[in-house]
Amino acid sequence: MRQSKLRAVSARPWLLLLCLALAATAGVMQARAQPNSIGFISIDCGFPGTTSYVDDATTLPYAPDAAFTDAGENHNVSSEHVTPELPRIYRDVRSFVDGARNCYTLPSTLAVGLNKYLFRAAFMYGNYDGLNRPPVFDLYIGVNLWKTVNLSSSDPAAPVIAEAIVVVPDDFVQVCLVNTGTGTPFISGLELRPLKNSIYPQVNATQGLVLQSRRNFGPTDMTDIIRYPDDQYDRLWTPMIIDAIDWLVLSTTEKVRNIYDDLFEVPSKVMQTAITPRDATSSINFYWNSKGSSLGYIPVFHFSEVLQAGAGVVRQFNININGKRFTSHDYYTPRHLESGYVYGTRPYTNQIRYNVSIVKTDTSTLPPIINADEIFIVISTTNVGTDSEDVSAMKAIKAKYQVKKNWMGDPCVAGTFRWDGLTCSYAISDPPKITALNMSFSGLTGDISSAFANLKAVQSLDLSHNNLTGSIPSSLSQLPSLTTLDLTGNQLSGPIPSSLLKRIQDGSLNLIYADNPDLCTNAGDSCQTAPQGKSKLVIYYVAVPMALIVVALAVLLCCLLRRRKTRGLADVSVKPRDKTPTSLASMAADEHRLSSLRLENRRFTYEDLEMITDSFKRVIGRGGFGYVYEGFLEDGTQVAVKMRSQSSNQGAKEFLTEAQILTRIHHKNLVSMVGYCKDGVYMALVYEYMSEGSLQEHIAGKRLTWGQRLRIALESAQGLEYLHRGCNPPLIHRDVKTSNILLNAKLEAKVADFGMSKALDRDTYASTNTLVGTPGYVDPEYLETMQPSTKSDVYSFGVVLLELVTGRPPILHSPQPTSVIQWARQHLARGDIEVVVDASMGGNHDVNSVWKAAEVALQCTEQASAQRPTMGDVVAQLLECLDLEKGRSANESFCDGDDSGSATASLSHSSAFVTGRIFGTVPMVETGPATR
Ligand SMILES: *[C@@H]1O[C@H](CO)[C@@H](O)[C@H](O)[C@H]1NC(C)=O
Ligand SMILES: *[C@@H]1O[C@H](CO)[C@@H](O)[C@H](O)[C@H]1NC(C)=O
Ligand SMILES: *[C@@H]1O[C@H](CO)[C@@H](O)[C@H](O)[C@H]1NC(C)=O
Ligand SMILES: *[C@@H]1O[C@H](CO)[C@@H](O)[C@H](O)[C@H]1NC(C)=O
Ligand SMILES: *[C@@H]1O[C@H](CO)[C@@H](O)[C@H](O)[C@H]1NC(C)=O
Ligand SMILES: *[C@@H]1O[C@H](CO)[C@@H](O)[C@H](O)[C@H]1NC(C)=O
Repeated sequence: MRQSKLRAVSARPWLLLLCLALAATAGVMQARAQPNSIGFISIDCGFPGTTSYVDDATTLPYAPDAAFTDAGENHNVSSEHVTPELPRIYRDVRSFVDGARNCYTLPSTLAVGLNKYLFRAAFMYGNYDGLNRPPVFDLYIGVNLWKTVNLSSSDPAAPVIAEAIVVVPDDFVQVCLVNTGTGTPFISGLELRPLKNSIYPQVNATQGLVLQSRRNFGPTDMTDIIRYPDDQYDRLWTPMIIDAIDWLVLSTTEKVRNIYDDLFEVPSKVMQTAITPRDATSSINFYWNSKGSSLGYIPVFHFSEVLQAGAGVVRQFNININGKRFTSHDYYTPRHLESGYVYGTRPYTNQIRYNVSIVKTDTSTLPPIINADEIFIVISTTNVGTDSEDVSAMKAIKAKYQVKKNWMGDPCVAGTFRWDGLTCSYAISDPPKITALNMSFSGLTGDISSAFANLKAVQSLDLSHNNLTGSIPSSLSQLPSLTTLDLTGNQLSGPIPSSLLKRIQDGSLNLIYADNPDLCTNAGDSCQTAPQGKSKLVIYYVAVPMALIVVALAVLLCCLLRRRKTRGLADVSVKPRDKTPTSLASMAADEHRLSSLRLENRRFTYEDLEMITDSFKRVIGRGGFGYVYEGFLEDGTQVAVKMRSQSSNQGAKEFLTEAQILTRIHHKNLVSMVGYCKDGVYMALVYEYMSEGSLQEHIAGKRLTWGQRLRIALESAQGLEYLHRGCNPPLIHRDVKTSNILLNAKLEAKVADFGMSKALDRDTYASTNTLVGTPGYVDPEYLETMQPSTKSDVYSFGVVLLELVTGRPPILHSPQPTSVIQWARQHLARGDIEVVVDASMGGNHDVNSVWKAAEVALQCTEQASAQRPTMGDVVAQLLECLDLEKGRSANESFCDGDDSGSATASLSHSSAFVTGRIFGTVPMVETGPATR
């Protein structure tokens, strides 16, 4: 009797507990006492608390389930169904009212290569919800359907068990209950048993087996279920009681050995009993019914001779299924006290009933026997779960931010269960990977989890509009595919890591971080000095002769005064730019401002600069501050070095402004700073090298196609949009013009020269005092109010765009001085687009595209700033222009220079252009910079 056996082992739980407490010796004691149960996971679902208990029958510890799932609620089954014999796991359940899919996550890896597992889930409804309506729901292992659990017709007090043997590819596995609209899923118990990889050879990475029945023939007591510790894998062998009229039970008390490399390792206790027909001529017949599995059934039959064979006694038989021979040889003979088996490898399909008959051969003197059998339903496990690294990362993220959403089970699982906010890629041969994660407006608090940096395929990460604090982890820069990182609207602090800055500067990353008041990006902020960045910021630079500001302002002043007069307005006094005297006090102030720079940028000494520029050998430009020299860093990176001329007593302030601004802004369409020098009286800025010079030169050179022009316009607009929208407070460039738009070897445009830029809500006094800009580009409203706005840049950009369309400078001199705006406006009003368009494009352009661009330019240059678009609007419009132009060039049989064709087109173009570069015409200075 099982009862007596239970009593016999009832001392053992205490022993086991003791063993568990004495961890070191426990293994030894257990190993002697019982087969190895290491790696078993036994969960009593719905069991409250945090402490495990030891199950009487198996002596295995059962854990409460709270550590394995974060959903659902505990319920006790109705007391009417609780009997003293009812195992503890059935006394309570966890039910999942909310959410379509709820999962348990179980760890799996024990050792390398050990990844075949037996899963068992137990369900007893027991009217736990008082509804008397047992549900039907689906059960999944990972992303593969295990089975439909249909309790609707079973006795509410009858436990239902689902068992499967599958290969688990990862170091964790999820078991999910899916609500199919036919009742609330619940579960009573969950067990995971690692198997030897060699057993159940039909189970591999793409195919699993779900148990239909596992029977032990011969026991006389229905309750005599054999499992752990008799079965080291804790399979449940249910007794098959036969009627004693037709059948004879054969049994032995001797051990039945497993053969070498046994593929099933059936426990001796199961094999010790067998049945045989009383009528020695009879065969053993039984059947199983198909339950509609499309992939079919695989049977396994277990045999062992338990009787001592006498002389001349032979037991031989064959197995037939639906009349067809199942055994592959002429006959099968069970071996004495040794377990043997006959198993299928290919599933039986397409029958509603499978008749099995075990028939003795003609030479056999004994009838057939059978000790045990197993019938399995084949399931496919070809669905692969999300990349396991991604899953681990998402689990960490979910845990850290306590994400509620529908974040259950596999993140990328196809269909409606995919996690909210996720985008995944589904390659045919690879596990799905997460390519985008949008957690905006999710109420996230705390710092940015380092787990985000483990989403190796993520391209877009949106963490905007949360309450994230702390600094931006530099590890994010290691995400190879990350192109957009949106951190807008958080409470982040500290500097932007240099590794991210590098990604921004090389154009591979778009970082949006507006509305983070404590983020260290503002000029003048006292930022903690970041570790001296050894970042070798790639790239090139170009210096462009800066407009001579005094001259510019003089001209401006004249224009202004003339305008005022003609308009009869009151005189407004416009002071020239303030001149910073070089005094000790101001030098100290300069030093202070420099030391407040975030030092991702390198600080150079004057000697460094001498070396980099080969003693200031090659001048590549000249501006109001002084000369610009070509240089090469230690690693060969070409740079441009802008020296402040000491003789020029203007510019120190602009110099510092520019240095400060360049340390806080980073965008692929803004020229970036590699470092700076403040060495005694010497001041210099070191930039990326822009090999193709300024847009002004290119427009004058008349070699740009319309596609290239549009692209340059778009990129410049994006740079400006970033200044206006990506910076907090917004930055106004105040000197947008074609000579401040530089091009690199790929003809990519970057806005340069931030010496006059202003933060919008700072220094308002200074900005009303000083009018800056370049004639032809200055916003008339700014001229009037002395108040610059982002719309002033829009105005200037409109002029740039008109120059691109017309190929003409901002101020035309014949027949009489007039602005290109006025000129274009007049012609366009008459629909005269062909006169306006730069003839050097040879008509190779989409007319609608040019029209649209011209209209955008005119909108930008509206007198009233309120009527001008924002840079964001401009970017959107230019994108449309580019689409129109692309449509045209795609319809032509050749590609004349944008998008796919642009790389080659612009390269050949630029190499042709190099000879005509303006740099060649800058007088060489042999004695070094003027500051010497
Ligand atoms: C379940 O029953 C136990 C006692 O048998 C009780 O302590 C516990 O609170 C019950 N749980 C629920 C969810 O009702
Ligand atoms: C559940 O099983 C019952 C009886 O076998 C059957 O009538 C019912 O259709 C099944 N329900 C589902 C949803 O499969
Ligand atoms: C798994 O076994 C099935 C049936 O034998 C076979 O078709 C499939 O290719 C196997 N898969 C792997 C990954 O070996
Ligand atoms: C299985 O046996 C039953 C009863 O002998 C018979 O009616 C049925 O046709 C058989 N099925 C097959 C597929 O052979
Ligand atoms: C993220 O979701 C929000 C809405 O919840 C949406 O406004 C935003 O555009 C999304 N971000 C991305 C990058 O798609
Ligand atoms: C951030 O937290 C504050 C208060 O703690 C709250 O008022 C605000 O709405 C939160 N912001 C977001 C975007 O969740």
